[in-house]
Amino acid sequence: MTANEIRQKYLNFFEAKGHKIIPSASLLPENDPTTLFTGSGMQPMVPYLLGETHPEGKRITDSQKCFRSSDIEEVGDNRHTTFFEMLGNWSLGDYFKKEQIEWIFEFLTSKELGLGLNPERIYISVYRGNKNIGISKDKEAVKLWQKQFEKTGVKTEVVDNVETSGIQNENERIFYYDEKENWWSRAGVPEKMPVGELGGPDSEMFWDLGEKLNLHENSEWKNQPCHPACDCGRFVEIGNNVFMQYIKTENGFVELENKNIDFGGGLERFMVAVEDNSDIFACSIFNNIRKKLEEISGKKYSENEEETKSFRVIMDHLRGATFLIGDGAIPSNKDQGYFTRRLIRRAVRFAHGLGVEKNFTKKIAEVVIGDYSEQYKNLVEKRDFILEEIDKEEKKFRNTLKKGLKEFKKYMVISSGWVPDDVDENNLTSKDLLGGSANKYMPREIFFRLYDTFGFPLEMIKEECKNRGIVFEEREEREFNEDLEKHKQLSKTASAGKFKGGLADSREETKKLHTVAHLMLAALRKVLGDHVQQKGSNITAERLRFDFSHPEKLTDEQKIEVEKLVNSAIKNKLPIVCEEMDLAKAKESGATGVFDSRYSDRVKVYKVGENNNIFSNEICGGPHVDNTSEIKKTFKIKKEKSSGSGVRRIKAVLE
Ligand code: ALA
Repeated sequence: MTANEIRQKYLNFFEAKGHKIIPSASLLPENDPTTLFTGSGMQPMVPYLLGETHPEGKRITDSQKCFRSSDIEEVGDNRHTTFFEMLGNWSLGDYFKKEQIEWIFEFLTSKELGLGLNPERIYISVYRGNKNIGISKDKEAVKLWQKQFEKTGVKTEVVDNVETSGIQNENERIFYYDEKENWWSRAGVPEKMPVGELGGPDSEMFWDLGEKLNLHENSEWKNQPCHPACDCGRFVEIGNNVFMQYIKTENGFVELENKNIDFGGGLERFMVAVEDNSDIFACSIFNNIRKKLEEISGKKYSENEEETKSFRVIMDHLRGATFLIGDGAIPSNKDQGYFTRRLIRRAVRFAHGLGVEKNFTKKIAEVVIGDYSEQYKNLVEKRDFILEEIDKEEKKFRNTLKKGLKEFKKYMVISSGWVPDDVDENNLTSKDLLGGSANKYMPREIFFRLYDTFGFPLEMIKEECKNRGIVFEEREEREFNEDLEKHKQLSKTASAGKFKGGLADSREETKKLHTVAHLMLAALRKVLGDHVQQKGSNITAERLRFDFSHPEKLTDEQKIEVEKLVNSAIKNKLPIVCEEMDLAKAKESGATGVFDSRYSDRVKVYKVGENNNIFSNEICGGPHVDNTSEIKKTFKIKKEKSSGSGVRRIKAVLE
């Protein structure tokens, strides 16, 4: 089964159970200040899990593109990737635990309708409960799982303390864990959840790669007992049923009126189980990318450890960068584009380790686009743009590296008075030639500057030193790592400050600003013209950030005009009405929207105003206030600037 076949089989399976298949949302979340990237299938579904009606009904299934930037440095082992696809099915207040467990078991094990996995190699985790938050042990889920396994003749002993006991015999199959393992919310464990956030106990499925690979014995956990949630890699989590049934309130957890199911399973993880291969990067989903890289580098995958790591980083990062650019995160120094830049630069650096010194990223991106063209049409539509951006970034980076090398040589001269062979002495200034001692030591900060400003990885710094007879030994490496740690701490602090934005805790304020975003788009189109399209938005309780297409800077008059229009819409107490309709009809009615491949056939359209006085008419998932009078405050544009070519960005607030 190819990745495309697995994806399709999953979607068909749930379609046959009454689910509507919807397209993946963008990797760059809209109207969601909580994260920079879509990192799970559930994120774009939050409004519906909170009770907004979904235009496609109560049963939804999809394959969602996901990106987890926090995993960048982890990539290189046999299973971490930054980009992945999460297959998901949702019950929006419809079916619950019983159906979900029955169906997902059928999908995993049925040869005909699903993956045909051997149930003897599937293990289950279930929530242990926690008296402090008034939620009890999930015995119901245990019973439901037992029923499924029994049908296949597989024994199902239940174990409550496997973290300390380890698996004792082959009949042990279902394991209780606490909330670190078996609770899901966007914010993590119950105590981390802000008021207003959704969450619930979950129940995960694991694939046992088996004892014979000695994954546990060869891991850093070898002195601890092995069990399904052990990080050694023997058990691969292939799916998670979240029983999304609680909302956190000031007074603790309250059951939702309509309980939801959120299932997520990584497509790559399904492949690991189907192909029974512990290395994601050796699975068929990476075949074409891997072969291309073998061809470019003249090296074979998995011949030695160091090169294997380089292969994995390059494959993962360039796949991720291709998708990110496709969704609009072009390489830059800030926000999402910063991660695209990091991915490409890391890929180029690791390619150096494989001896690839010529531009190559474009060639890999081309293969990625080909592999995913059926499912992700936007990649095909934006093919040329993606290839150009990725190539541009690689060129830029290679130039930076060159400059770094020059700098390096210059400092060698300054600090040692020694002129390396490949430096033209006639081109050096007298300052360069004012040497110090002749022992080829370099100042500590130069090494770090090479890393930080010029993007040299440690290995490359070492290599350059070695080639030029400069001392870089234990002490230099230790100092370098100290500087690196300091730098990491600083940037962690910075990004924590930057992105903390309250999780759904101030829903009312974000809802108001969301409605204001619609008013502003309508006002911009009235003032500037119909070419204005929304290019992205990001809303917190404090401000609205909004990107739109327009070729030039707004004049002061235009800004004032837009403010006036929005404020009069607020004063005029306009009602907001939501209607569900077919996409074609919405387009016909002139509704604005982001017309790429993201909508399904049925959509919700929010109209502000009534009868002949419609101020705004926009396709959107909601939520919104019911009447503009609820906004109460005054709309003010704080900043207007460029955000890429042909795109402007407005920061606005309510005062
Ligand atoms: N939302 C759940 C997860 O990401 C399914 O694991």
